[in-house]
Amino acid sequence: MKFQAIKGTRDILPPDSTLWNQVEQTAREVFASYNFNEIRPPIFEQTELFARSIGAETDVVAKEMYTFEDRDDSSISLRPEATASVCRAYIEHGMQTLPGNVKLHYMGPMFRRERPQKGRYRQFYQIGAEVLGQSDAPAIDAEVIEMLLAFFEKAGLANATLSVNSIGDKNCRPQYIELLRAELQKVKAQLGPDSQRRIETNPLRVLDSKLPEEQAIIENLPRIADHLCDSCRTHFAKLQDELKLRGILYEINWRLVRGLDYYTRTTFEIVAPGLGSQNAVCGGGRYDGLVELLGGPPTKGIGFAIGTDRLILSLQETGKAAAKKGLDVYVAWMGEKSYAPAVKLARKLRDSGFAVELPPEEMKFKKSLGLADKLGARYALIIGEDEVASGQLTLKHLADGRQQKYSEAGLLEHLRETRQT
Ligand code: HAM
Repeated sequence: MKFQAIKGTRDILPPDSTLWNQVEQTAREVFASYNFNEIRPPIFEQTELFARSIGAETDVVAKEMYTFEDRDDSSISLRPEATASVCRAYIEHGMQTLPGNVKLHYMGPMFRRERPQKGRYRQFYQIGAEVLGQSDAPAIDAEVIEMLLAFFEKAGLANATLSVNSIGDKNCRPQYIELLRAELQKVKAQLGPDSQRRIETNPLRVLDSKLPEEQAIIENLPRIADHLCDSCRTHFAKLQDELKLRGILYEINWRLVRGLDYYTRTTFEIVAPGLGSQNAVCGGGRYDGLVELLGGPPTKGIGFAIGTDRLILSLQETGKAAAKKGLDVYVAWMGEKSYAPAVKLARKLRDSGFAVELPPEEMKFKKSLGLADKLGARYALIIGEDEVASGQLTLKHLADGRQQKYSEAGLLEHLRETRQT
């Protein structure tokens, strides 16, 4: 029997995993500079948490969740996203009593049973952030977007385009939805089966349709911007002022409604090059009222999640993937007497931050150096019995074959001076 990774899941292998770590580290640094702290919620939760937050009728909940019965018959689901968990944690830990806004970030695997294709997996990864608290100031929305773009810039993602929209709130959206439903009824016969069904279940999602034959019809539908209540209109206008203040380029996409039910007002999405049809590298928005819906105090919220798999793909496809930091020193030891000094020296070099490979068994000199070359080591450190006796170690620069002798202290100094960052 031959085992294989389950369809839609994959191993992230070296050297890719090095790039993943760099990207995640960059996110940690940028998010920390905006005073976000990390939360690590569990990977599974009560099914009802996701159903209530994301919406029982959404594709994510109705078709894509990995749901199973636990041994005590309760229903559990692997998390398809983390916003619901963050809100649950906010309530469970009474975070509303914390000073100021609660600013949290997270990263890790999410699970959705979608049809796998390039950039779409059943186990995929997100890097996300959420701001929860009493304020719904548009400056929060803008700062979250600024942080996201600062991260993309540091990670090397070029040509990402930001789209924003406002989908109104509980005061104005219901009327708009009724208007949209009525207009959609008039053109129902010209729509495909999915959109026809959505006229009843969730007419906003019709606006998301990518079907070429529906595009002209959708363009003529009433637009939410013309039906926002005063406070939502002001909020959206101020958000745009705040984005301009920060020098952030954006476009307004009135059809950006997002596939999760919890959104109110601001929605946004970022599209990146090199990804084909799965080109949304990040989605987010405001979800005032979600905490309340889950039984918590009235709370405002906004956040985003980046699809890490897609971000990495885009970096690789546009040639922006950072170079991998390789092996610094291969310790080529030979002869029984040189083994103990080699072990000790390898430890010293590793403690000083160098990547070191120490062969666990004695090898012939030629074979050992050949392996150092194949592993891509920068230097081979030659420790034979002569070297041990004289205290002078030979350092060979593998790219050009140059060799030089050093004392242990001199060696460390030389390596530090030529350290590659
Ligand atoms: P979402 O739009 O469902 O939003 O997902 C965010 C991002 O996750 C997408 O833009 C995409 O890059 C990535 N993604 C989603 N599904 C897959 C998949 N099957 N394979 C690979 N990547 C995928 C959310 O999840 C919200 N929780 C975002 C949010 C946070 N809104 C407010 N706060």
